[in-house]
Amino acid sequence: MMSNQTSALGTMVDPELVEGLTQRPLQIPSKYFYDQRGSALFDRICDLPEYYLTRTGDALLDHRSEEIARLTRARQLVELGAGSARKTRHLIVSLLAQDGGLHYTPLDISRYALKQAEASLTEEFPELHIMGIECDYTVGLEPLDPDPGCLAVFLGSTIGNFPHPSGVALLRRLRDRLAPGDWFLMGVDLVKPVSVLEAAYNDQSGVTAEFNKNILNAVNREAGGDFDPTGFQHLAFFNELDSQIEMYLVARAPTRVRLADLDTELHLEGGERIRTEISRKFTPESTKRLLAEAGFDLRHWFESDNRYFALALARVPED
Ligand code: TRP
Repeated sequence: MMSNQTSALGTMVDPELVEGLTQRPLQIPSKYFYDQRGSALFDRICDLPEYYLTRTGDALLDHRSEEIARLTRARQLVELGAGSARKTRHLIVSLLAQDGGLHYTPLDISRYALKQAEASLTEEFPELHIMGIECDYTVGLEPLDPDPGCLAVFLGSTIGNFPHPSGVALLRRLRDRLAPGDWFLMGVDLVKPVSVLEAAYNDQSGVTAEFNKNILNAVNREAGGDFDPTGFQHLAFFNELDSQIEMYLVARAPTRVRLADLDTELHLEGGERIRTEISRKFTPESTKRLLAEAGFDLRHWFESDNRYFALALARVPED
């Protein structure tokens, strides 16, 4: 691993980014997708006909939320990466419909998103107690201290964007903040015909390609770079062996990129790839294994009718 790089201006460049750009194959951490323009493009991806994930996952949660409320009887709902909490509304309604009130604890890296979620939820559900926590759940969950019997949720198959070892580590950190008998609901995108998977990451209208290339603008800002996004091509395909969609940017020609804040220059060959994202696709078995490795017991499995997406309801074992 490289040491942290300090620019002439004294600002420190994200060591994760430095590491990704000083190894081969080149890699850019996917968190750089979600700048202002990237977040707007991702919202558009979620509405694309080919991108079934958001639509299917949200509908499944709406359909199953009463049953999940009945099974868990949770009085505290913790959400990792809550964002605008749009996905969670139905579950909140179902949990509020039970006796005993409800505490909602959204975790998000964006203070702005938390404020927005809090404002709109307070208006819609005056009886809901909301206590947002601003934190990066990929780093640590120390500020989280939920009540026994809580339900933690991690929706949208975001777990699939982590390689297996870091996914397990993330879920273990969550598990360590929970008590025996607590519940955990995780959304997972399922293995399905390759044509359906690949279409979801290669839409006709080219929004996904725009989204992928936009990551270079964020890198330019972070590292004083001069990447030209038009010099790269979007590439996404399903790697069957590793059961994951892989996303790359491919240099159209030999390319030199100056990274002023790292005081270095990158030389890419024509056709050289930069990896920007993985999106793992699961089966009931691989989900159960992942949960077990992190110390959770899979208890209930809900699939959408087309079997594209699932919700895994797990529990911390009582020992
Ligand atoms: N979390 C999303 C997913 O894995 C991210 C995503 C969707 C994405 N489309 C993309 C990332 C295209 C890079 C390029 O489905």
